[in-house]
Amino acid sequence: KATVKEIFKDSEKYLNNEIQIEGWIRTLRSSKKFGFIEVNDGTFFKNIQVVFDENLENFKEISKFPISSSIVVQGKLDPTPQAKQPFEIKATNVSIIGDSERDYPLQKKRHSFEYLRTIAHLRPRSNAFSAVFRVRSLAAYAVHKFFQERNFVYVHTPIITGSDAEGAGEMFRVTNLDLKNIPLDDDGKVDFSEDFFGKDTNLTVSGQLEAEAYALAFRNVYTFGPTFRAENSNTARHAAEFWMIEPEIAFADLNDNMDLAEDMMKYIINYVMENAKEEMKFFNSFVDKGLFDRLENVVNSEFERITYTEAIDILEKSKEKFQYPVKWGIDLQTEHERYITEKVFRKPVFVMDYPKDIKAFYMRLNDDGKTVAAMDLLVPGVGEIVGGSQREERLDILEKRMEELGMNKEEYWWYLELRKYGGTKHAGFGLGFERAIMYMTGMKNIRDVIPFPRTVGLAEF
Ligand code: 4AD
Ligand code: MG
Repeated sequence: KATVKEIFKDSEKYLNNEIQIEGWIRTLRSSKKFGFIEVNDGTFFKNIQVVFDENLENFKEISKFPISSSIVVQGKLDPTPQAKQPFEIKATNVSIIGDSERDYPLQKKRHSFEYLRTIAHLRPRSNAFSAVFRVRSLAAYAVHKFFQERNFVYVHTPIITGSDAEGAGEMFRVTNLDLKNIPLDDDGKVDFSEDFFGKDTNLTVSGQLEAEAYALAFRNVYTFGPTFRAENSNTARHAAEFWMIEPEIAFADLNDNMDLAEDMMKYIINYVMENAKEEMKFFNSFVDKGLFDRLENVVNSEFERITYTEAIDILEKSKEKFQYPVKWGIDLQTEHERYITEKVFRKPVFVMDYPKDIKAFYMRLNDDGKTVAAMDLLVPGVGEIVGGSQREERLDILEKRMEELGMNKEEYWWYLELRKYGGTKHAGFGLGFERAIMYMTGMKNIRDVIPFPRTVGLAEF
């Protein structure tokens, strides 16, 4: 017994020997006397070719096996030095395990990604999605490897929480109250006293606040888990459920934060290029022809670092016609982000020191009183991939900011206490994992890099 991965990795060991594989039929063609089956056993991106001929007693039946049937094959691994693949299995026995119906939706022709989204339960069997989800798995492993090698502690921050980490109100509510009969108090507000948690709770939008608590105990920590946003943005880059990587580092400032983000991006890209060679070749040939050039440029170049004010200056001076007018104080739109990273610098760009009014409450106020120590990493093809900042560690300034924003300080009592008991400067960021996968594969839609996407108006899955 062998897996296709083992055979490709160590073909010398198996050549001219009897082997057995189990897998699914990807393609099958046959003539009167012999036929070929491309088998994929799930362990490797590539298929292995099986040859069968009329000497097999069930030759006629094999010729009619439907695509996607699961089969078991016994035979000898034959060298085929002239062919595209240097070996094939000469079958001595092919039998069916699970038959497939004739209306199997993934026939040999190429399908659009839009169509494949409607069969999200079957699409991992296609080449493109086999490659995407192998890369996704390897990239997740690379993330852990990167942080663990640097002695970061992995913290499982809660999924259900009482706080809005971004203060943006884009939360999905979690309650066991009967929605058809919501209890109201005297003021007509929802009465949470009968709720399981006894208060208004939601799915987390970010693990940052809890990660900060752990950074002030372990120095360097990271979270890597699902996060949820009820943003009503029906775009190719927004999902309601996405995975985020959030390191938080103590005794560190914005520059340390950017250094970490840059090292991490390069590490993950290198790891995937090294460990998913076949998949990456596929993306470079069929999805995005410029992919390798771009990624090589990324790992070998230093990321650009500019301030928000410089970015606005560049945009104002450019001849490009933007849909959304540019002036100091605006939130950069995707068109602006892409212009800066694709047309001006042609590599990843950190934009720092944003106006405080367009950023979250916890970001550290700069000496100018107008901007905060924020940083976004913008990359060609995607736009914002990382958002982070140095955190406001000065209790009085943080409280003042929360008051200005009308936030309820009592709800953040524990967060504020972190500033009372041995606070120190600290920083962190969030990398959107799906956006990182889009960037590394050239896939253009977030729905195509997460197995079962959750987006606005989700229906079937
Ligand atoms: O910029 P964001 O909102 O930052 C935070 O959540 C911080 N608390 C992170 C931190 O400092 N620890 O989100 C971070 C990243 C974005 O740059 C983007 O890549 C991704 O998360 N992201 C989304 N990805 C997919 N769908 C969405 N709706 C996303 N919203 C944010
Ligand atoms: Mg952001």
